[in-house]
Amino acid sequence: MAADKTAFGKNQFGVNVELFTLTNENGIRVRIMNHGATIVSLEVPDRSGRLADVVLGHDTAAEYCAATPYFGCAVGRYANRIQSGRFMLDGQTYTLAQNNGPNALHGGVRGFDKVVWDAEILPGADAVRMTYISADGEEGFPGEVKTTLTYTLTGANELKIDCMAETDKATPYNITNHSYFNLAGHDAGEIGAQRMMIRAETLLPIDSTSIPLGPEMAVAGTPFDFRTPHALGERIDADHEQIRRGCGYDHNFCLTKTPPGELSLAARAEDPASGRVMEVYTTEPGVQLYTANFLDGQLAGKGGCRYVRRGGFCLETQHYPDSPNQPQFPNTILRPGTVFRSQTVYQFK
Ligand code: GLA
Repeated sequence: MAADKTAFGKNQFGVNVELFTLTNENGIRVRIMNHGATIVSLEVPDRSGRLADVVLGHDTAAEYCAATPYFGCAVGRYANRIQSGRFMLDGQTYTLAQNNGPNALHGGVRGFDKVVWDAEILPGADAVRMTYISADGEEGFPGEVKTTLTYTLTGANELKIDCMAETDKATPYNITNHSYFNLAGHDAGEIGAQRMMIRAETLLPIDSTSIPLGPEMAVAGTPFDFRTPHALGERIDADHEQIRRGCGYDHNFCLTKTPPGELSLAARAEDPASGRVMEVYTTEPGVQLYTANFLDGQLAGKGGCRYVRRGGFCLETQHYPDSPNQPQFPNTILRPGTVFRSQTVYQFK
């Protein structure tokens, strides 16, 4: 295990950004910057040992600040959407920025992805801990919330993200990592041939603004049935209303979990050509499969490459979108005196 820290330029406010590198004994290397607690690169071997960087991103902090697709970052205080940017909590109505059509998306105009986190390498040199204190009222949310994210690289080729959060007033809280993966390499083009398994019997169908309609929909007999592995491209343009609404996959799958909160396998992705396999384990009840439907080849990425539509996939482990307005969903209200904890593990094989 080795860890080091270097400068990574400045953000849009002139604040210095630091880049942390963790390397394990098998040569897997992850780089994380403290702007947005963002995974900047993740190099993993193929079946013959050749390394490729499997996450989309940029070469400088400034480019991350200028771009909008949430490459690799921590997303919070509330990942995904809250309908009309409004929710009621303990009898009071709160109003958030409507930064995605009529809805609030990914924590607002300046969410956890757009702030600089305090960061340190932990003893043992296998982990980086990032801390951010979100002020009471920030982006319209009540309560001062302290979040600690710990990124650990293990000898078993796992990248673990542990989250801990506390608040001094009741607040909605939902956090995820928004890495875009391409197991053939970040600049290898469309992910259509990569195979996906998701351990879910149901998903949340969405309305035309991507808000869950409420009741879960069975995946059986639909293009969303990933209970056995399917190529991502096989049904991504299927004649199905939910596919049209998402412009491809952009949906929360309700993970099969007994008991709730256990760390268990959520998804398994495989690139048959390179032999790279990624398994995702999480304690969270849901995972958003997003197939980069809104990339369009315009944005310049690492090394000057262009990221095409569907040139990556996200597996955003999370609580369900719009939970503050949908009381039947698993609870997302964090209250003073309780500690939020979650763990997500990306394991490479
Ligand atoms: C999430 C959303 C998508 C999109 C991406 C970022 O996956 O569900 O609709 O906003 O983030 O572009």
